[in-house]
Amino acid sequence: MPSHTFDLLIRNAMIATASDTYAADIGIRAGRIAQLGTQLGTGALEIDAAGRVVTPGGVDAHCHLDQPLAPPARMADNFETGTRSAACGGTTTVIPFAAQEKGKSLRDAVTDYHRRADGQAHIDYGFHLIVSDPTPEVLNKELPTLISEGYTSFKIYMTYDDLKLNDGQILDVLDVARQHGAMAMIHAENADCIEWLTKRMEASGRTAPRFHAQARPMLVEREAAHRAIALSQLVDVPILIVHVSGREAVDQIRWARGQGLKVFAETCPQYLFLTADDLGLDDSYHGARCVCSPPPRDKANQEVIWNGLNDGLFTVFSSDHAPFNVEGTDGKKPDGKEVEFRYIPNGLAGIETRMALLYSAGVLGGRMTLQKFVELTATNPAKAYGLHPRKGAIAIGSDADLVVWDEREFVLRNADLHHAVGHTPYEGLTLRAWPGITLSRGNVVWDGKAFHGQAGRGHFLKRGAPTLLPRGQEGSA
Ligand code: URP
Ligand code: ZN
Ligand code: ZN
Repeated sequence: MPSHTFDLLIRNAMIATASDTYAADIGIRAGRIAQLGTQLGTGALEIDAAGRVVTPGGVDAHCHLDQPLAPPARMADNFETGTRSAACGGTTTVIPFAAQEKGKSLRDAVTDYHRRADGQAHIDYGFHLIVSDPTPEVLNKELPTLISEGYTSFKIYMTYDDLKLNDGQILDVLDVARQHGAMAMIHAENADCIEWLTKRMEASGRTAPRFHAQARPMLVEREAAHRAIALSQLVDVPILIVHVSGREAVDQIRWARGQGLKVFAETCPQYLFLTADDLGLDDSYHGARCVCSPPPRDKANQEVIWNGLNDGLFTVFSSDHAPFNVEGTDGKKPDGKEVEFRYIPNGLAGIETRMALLYSAGVLGGRMTLQKFVELTATNPAKAYGLHPRKGAIAIGSDADLVVWDEREFVLRNADLHHAVGHTPYEGLTLRAWPGITLSRGNVVWDGKAFHGQAGRGHFLKRGAPTLLPRGQEGSA
């Protein structure tokens, strides 16, 4: 029996990292990158990349899978279907949310979420926490212990009745992030303004899906972003403002950066590829599929987001995959009924399309370098959430989570996707690339035509401290 140098050897790769593009072979042993170079030996399995671009597998640091919700709402994707879809779209690590229910323990939410994930995931995964009830027990015991166990980030909501915190509670939670070196993610929208606007719309019969966007104008995001920045400044801790949609929040973040404040930001495909018109031009229910918060804005704001991606304003590009079917009884039509926009579950599907949309319109559309693409989709999310350099890197010792890209034009169809959602908001869009191969720890999980995952192969990732900032500035006491 011939013995091989590697389990897998990828020949003739055009390796793209967050800093460089260079030609080399990649030798993989025991699921990790063992060597980079030329004339490396042989592999038990060999793949000829034939000069195609190879990037780190995507790290989708904001997605919702099988998150418990008040009935009848139910997420269409669980860990099995969600991670299958992610892998087919070139994502090899996901970080969904273990959400605390008000009045209940955060630890119980984590235990329940492990039960949902165990034996299901095809790719590696971590958990963010959602803190919705910061009792003394949560602040002083549960949260510090969970951070030390590798749940090193949590989301704070400024809106949604069942999740939102007031400013005093936000300060308390941010203080825990500072003391224990965790990353605080903030959903910035002003809840009272949204409620006031929603009631006015309801009073005048404006309840179709499209009015969701009018009930959440940019100023409600701007005000909350500014407040979140001020609260983080008071506590002296970094924050990361998630799913930023347009100019007004962007201006606040630019201002904060100008002041030297440690404010990071995330945006998502829906703010580059959709507008409020996708929620409907008339009162039809079709637009329910694009109801998400903050809502998509307009073409001019799409340009603001593109600029922010390129000039460093945004640190990470995530999907915010929140999978709800339109048909059926547990998604966008609760109990099968067309409801007022207030009752439409928020969020849209995008875990599989995130990478290819940005590669196609960004890299191949001449809007973004390959380095920026890798930084936003893999390297920075891994750094922000304590996974780098194990994830988000092509380096010796890193997990062999890789994407070999196929550059070809095709029309995106939901029928070709692998999630459990009956539609994609991007149906009919022409894309210019798709992952030809996705490797998860050295295993081919997607070969460009078929999925080869195995439920339970994905490992839970105990995460470390964020590494976006120099040591000592990440928020530890
Ligand atoms: O509308 C959205 N974004 N739904 C998902 C939940 C969240 O706030 O991220
Ligand atoms: Zn959110
Ligand atoms: Zn979300």
